[in-house]
Amino acid sequence: MKISFVKSAKEAGKKAPKETLRVSVGSKNKDEIVKENGIKTLYLKSEEKMNLRKLFLLVRKMVALAKGARAEKIAFNLNDWKLVKISDQKLGELIGTQLDFANYEFTEYKTPPEDGFPLIKEVFVIDASTEAQKAILKGHAITEEVNKTRSLANTPGGDMTPTILAEKAKEAVKGWRVKVTILGEKEMEREKMQAILSVGRGSEEESKFIIMEYWGAGKSKKPVVLVGKGVTFDTGGINLKPSASLLGMNMDMSGGAAVIHTVALAAKMKLKKNVIGLVPSVENMASGKSYRPGDVIRSLSGKTIEVLNTDAEGRVILADALTYAQKYDPEVVIDVATLTGAAAVALGEHASAIFSDSDNLVKKLEESGEKTGDYIWRLPLWEEYESEIKGNLGDWTNIHNKDSKYGGAIHGAIFLYQFAKNYKWAHLDIAPRMTSTTGEYLAPGSLGTPVRLLYKFIEES
Ligand code: BES
Ligand code: MN
Ligand code: ZN
Repeated sequence: MKISFVKSAKEAGKKAPKETLRVSVGSKNKDEIVKENGIKTLYLKSEEKMNLRKLFLLVRKMVALAKGARAEKIAFNLNDWKLVKISDQKLGELIGTQLDFANYEFTEYKTPPEDGFPLIKEVFVIDASTEAQKAILKGHAITEEVNKTRSLANTPGGDMTPTILAEKAKEAVKGWRVKVTILGEKEMEREKMQAILSVGRGSEEESKFIIMEYWGAGKSKKPVVLVGKGVTFDTGGINLKPSASLLGMNMDMSGGAAVIHTVALAAKMKLKKNVIGLVPSVENMASGKSYRPGDVIRSLSGKTIEVLNTDAEGRVILADALTYAQKYDPEVVIDVATLTGAAAVALGEHASAIFSDSDNLVKKLEESGEKTGDYIWRLPLWEEYESEIKGNLGDWTNIHNKDSKYGGAIHGAIFLYQFAKNYKWAHLDIAPRMTSTTGEYLAPGSLGTPVRLLYKFIEES
């Protein structure tokens, strides 16, 4: 969408075409669209007790109602939106991000209707300070990458293989100062990345390890390393998922897509930070070549993994990626993965789970989450859980060693922890926020979680 800034309503009257939908916030106590003298106005009801969280929703609701009314251009006064006490800079960034976030639709595979898809093409913002204008454009740039993340994740599994994801990583940073290296299976054999190779072995598609390096602060400074799960389709493998659970498993590379586009965003915004992205990418297929329940794999770290369930594949490929991260002598490592359905059982659909042994890191990430709307909630990473993944044949089992039905997200995290003990680390289980839920005023499908959180964290670190 195009964003145009105008000084006054009068100027908007001149510059904006007549069919532009005017938005008035808080002047009526219900949402309605009224036509007066040929001009349509959307009256948007504001909540009595406004807060930051509701503000995110209100911006999106405006876009959703405007799209519903088939408006292509909207105009609003920024002063209408000063409903909570925040700086112009913060308000601008919030509005800038949420406008495009709510405008997004994944239409790639649909035949366009005669009158086009309902999308807002232009927004006129009235009376925004220079600060607010800059911030709105920044928010717009951030969400461009968030929406690209959503499109990668929304792409069906047949069209999103590890090879294609690797191509997309290169495309994402074309023109920016990011070095992309792709390891294929041969290279991974040489590197001894047997955990990734084992999970990918059942598939006809070649596994890839995507490495993205952005050295915005020069090589003498330690980088932030982001690790993203890139399972382009998760059938469960030999522990095949039941039918209902298979749908949506094309999105099991959501963490990887988020990492790819966070690195791209850091480069695009020319952040003076070092950011590395690592994405192990495989297809978890059931075939005669698949890894088996009971197999023991020697991971890159030298530690062995006893596979009790081939559907707990994300943690297996991440084990090698987390070990690989050590090469970069990282300041901090954050992994992002649609790791467990259990995280959604624990938290519902409104927050991702965060695990870390660093209180300070959790606090910083929680703040980044609140500021951006990528909400997270902490679950325990206690020693007590470690004994429950001690292996019988191997060092660590990839699920609870008694196959308990409780606390699955924690067992995933405590497993990853075994491979992340040499640096400051946090694990984000984004399965609860993989797709949008009702009442969010967002298109169905991928949410692009947690690009906004990661970017904010890096920017402020
Ligand atoms: N990719 C899934 C987790 C998932 C499920 C993400 C639903 C998003 C929505 C992961 O690989 C998986 O299969 N996890 C298992 C773990 C189990 C075998 C211990 C799960 O959650 O059931
Ligand atoms: Mn799985
Ligand atoms: Zn998975």
